[in-house]
Amino acid sequence: MTDILSKKLESKLDDKLISKSKRKHLEDGFKKGKVINEVLDKPTVMTLYKMITDHIIAYVNGSVSAGKESVLFWAVDDNEKNIALKIYLVSTSNFKKREPYILGDPRFSNLKKGTKNLVYLWAKKEFRNLTQCYDLGMPVPRPLYVTNNVLAMDFIGKNGSPAKTLLNSEVDAADYKQAIKIIRDLYHKAKLVHGDFSEYNIFKTENGLVVFDMGSAVDLRHPNSLEFLKRDINNITKFFSKRGLSFEDPAVLFEEIIK
Ligand SMILES: Nc1ncnc2c1ncn2[C@@H]1O[C@H](COP(=O)(O)OP(=O)(O)OP(=O)(O)O)[C@@H](O)[C@H]1O
Ligand SMILES: [Mg+2]
Repeated sequence: MTDILSKKLESKLDDKLISKSKRKHLEDGFKKGKVINEVLDKPTVMTLYKMITDHIIAYVNGSVSAGKESVLFWAVDDNEKNIALKIYLVSTSNFKKREPYILGDPRFSNLKKGTKNLVYLWAKKEFRNLTQCYDLGMPVPRPLYVTNNVLAMDFIGKNGSPAKTLLNSEVDAADYKQAIKIIRDLYHKAKLVHGDFSEYNIFKTENGLVVFDMGSAVDLRHPNSLEFLKRDINNITKFFSKRGLSFEDPAVLFEEIIK
């Protein structure tokens, strides 16, 4: 695309975002007209613009959290329903450490070289993992759409504030039980291992736990899937043990899950 055209689209998107953002008082630091260009590169802005014209979202309301490799935006669709946009950053990301979670997964065997492609593939992988789980009735955010480095899913939380993670919640024996059930169901039903299962990547909602951040989840056929499973069980056990709850021996649990 020519530079002039993309500039035009970009400023059109900015205008759209600004005019929509004026409608409501926003709680977080949404800086008018700035937010998009400071965080997102041009191709990502174009992708968001396409999502608006495709009516996946009506507008972006502001950013919710900024990680090293992704930012989470709160968007709203034409029916005023809240949507979470997980935007993987292409330019700043260090995807080297993600390779072990993609190489070896037969679902992604024809891997194209280059960071951008790896980032796009990662977004697709997270979408696919979420879909695999959601279709089985597992507690994950409902995936809505993925294109390039942008993944849209149901927003878990209220008014642009995400639900609390396990880390920031009071937890009890029922939460431990459900967390282990999720690991078990991931393995036996979805045939996946999360790979980053921890108190940081699980929401505690009034309807129970919701597991997210599924980009690292691997197929059971992945050569390291059992190693990842062991680590997931150990991590979550450590968390509940620190909170003073009783727990099963993780080694026993591991054997029991894989048998
Ligand atoms: N579906 C969602 N609804 C509401 N908030 C979400 C959703 N998914 C993610 N978030 C928010 O964004 C944060 C980061 O999401 P996630 O863990 O998927 O990304 P990440 O790349 O691991 O980022 P980080 O490095 O910060 O962990 C979460 O802690 C949560 O607050
Ligand atoms: Mg995370």
